[in-house]
Amino acid sequence: MTVSLNHLIAQHDGREGALLPILHDVQAAFGYISEASMREIAGALNLTRAEVYGVVSFYHDFRKEAETRPVIKLCRAEACKARGVDALVPLAEAQSRVKVEAVYCLGLCSVGPAAMVGGQVHARLDAERLLALMANI
Ligand code: FES
Repeated sequence: MTVSLNHLIAQHDGREGALLPILHDVQAAFGYISEASMREIAGALNLTRAEVYGVVSFYHDFRKEAETRPVIKLCRAEACKARGVDALVPLAEAQSRVKVEAVYCLGLCSVGPAAMVGGQVHARLDAERLLALMANI
């Protein structure tokens, strides 16, 4: 079933603070939020395009372009750094079929290094576990 942008917007009709939920829905449905979608959302919510663009740009999880590769979000915050994530980054980035993104804390500080793939978090990563995780996404 194909979902239309208008349908996604209409699901939040009359909702206070609808912008973020709409943006999440659009990204979930299409994988990114295009310029045309931002224009449409702005018009529907009576916001300026700059306001919508500002929100999309502020939150790193929102994409303005499609990403065709699977994404792994590798925690680069202090606790994971202390537990060795910096040694894993080059290994992860060498896997060109996967997009590696930095995040700053996934709430698994005591069991880092940690990563998120498709909304699921993974902890206690070492080189072997990271490569196995990346091979399966
Ligand atoms: S610092 Fe990495 S999960 Fe908190």
